[in-house]
Amino acid sequence: MDMSLTRAEVEERGHPVWAEVDLGAIRHNVRTLAAHASGAELMGVVKGYAYGHGNPQSAIAMLQGGATRLGVARVAEGLHLRQAGVAAPIHVFTEPPPGAITAMLDHDLTPTVYTEAFARVVSDAAKERGRRVPVHLKVDSGMHRVGVPAEDVASVARSLVAMEALEVEGVWSHLAVADVPNHPFTRMQIDLFQKTLEELDTAGVKPRYRHLANSAATMSDPDTHLDLVRCGIASYGLWPGRDLLGILDLRPALALRARVNMTKVLEAGDGVSYGLRYSLAQRSRIATVTAGYADGYDRRLSGRGDVLIGGRRYRVSGTVCMDQFMLDVGEDDVEAGSIATLIGDDADDAVRAEELAVHVGTINYEVTTRIPSRVPRIFLNETAGGDDG
Ligand SMILES: Cc1ncc(COP(=O)(O)O)c(C=O)c1O
Repeated sequence: MDMSLTRAEVEERGHPVWAEVDLGAIRHNVRTLAAHASGAELMGVVKGYAYGHGNPQSAIAMLQGGATRLGVARVAEGLHLRQAGVAAPIHVFTEPPPGAITAMLDHDLTPTVYTEAFARVVSDAAKERGRRVPVHLKVDSGMHRVGVPAEDVASVARSLVAMEALEVEGVWSHLAVADVPNHPFTRMQIDLFQKTLEELDTAGVKPRYRHLANSAATMSDPDTHLDLVRCGIASYGLWPGRDLLGILDLRPALALRARVNMTKVLEAGDGVSYGLRYSLAQRSRIATVTAGYADGYDRRLSGRGDVLIGGRRYRVSGTVCMDQFMLDVGEDDVEAGSIATLIGDDADDAVRAEELAVHVGTINYEVTTRIPSRVPRIFLNETAGGDDG
């Protein structure tokens, strides 16, 4: 799935809404995070179509910025990167159904393992190919999503050691509340993970990579850096949590822009959009912007979200429709064809994904990840160069 178009193609095909993704910003962010990671390697987390930013371009930019590995949630995401020629190690964070193991091994995707049954199937498939396959053992240190429960690690490790076609290259876990700096639960997870590593060592498992940190922990807690940090959100210049704002020089990589399709003058008392929830206080000009919730512009932004046109802020007037929403632009010089910035910089102002997330009652991760495939991505600064800063 490549949704990349040039600006000219966006024009020619009449796309009224598009995302601009600055690959120079991604390279800069990854370099900044890697420099902060106490010498650990950095895995660029590019699942969810690179949090909506687009693959393979975002993944490639991360590698150019210094990431040595990539992380995805699904086998298909890894295959997409391989088909695009990405050669770096690609980790799949959960065990897929056994039917996917052939594809994983054929394309050198690095499996996460946490059940003996899955490890056995990987080992058998590796043996058939006459190969040893590197795997990363996932430990559940308290988030209770997937992973070997800490108390079972020693026995699972003994089984893995007996599977000669597997190389336990890594052992890892995931933090539940790293976005809240100095949370005692994170300390508990770090300690439990360390204890587990000692047990593994006793069982003869000496992994090359021990990893625990997401973006928040990378930014705030050097004790979590170990051999490898796994950074998603911060690589895109988005903040992993309110308390981490401004700690590092990160640059938001994504802007979402849409064209005004039509303007009209309405009278005081006229209502706008489904439900007529916006009623004009006085005669005014209404601009219709061609983006809606089918473009990832959430319906809960009705009457709440601000957009920028020519550096000025306008509040969404009434209900966000599937493909359009309206703005009361007063007397201002807004015309059909004007460009509205839904996310991103415009003149001296900016709308951040974080701002929209507050209105919607979600997190910035979801705001960008939900921008769907019908919105083309225009990639800026594709070639690594001086603009990276
Ligand atoms: C296993 C795993 N590691 C790392 C990350 C990256 O987290 P973040 O985007 O907060 O850096 C994620 C994303 O949720 C994840 O699922």
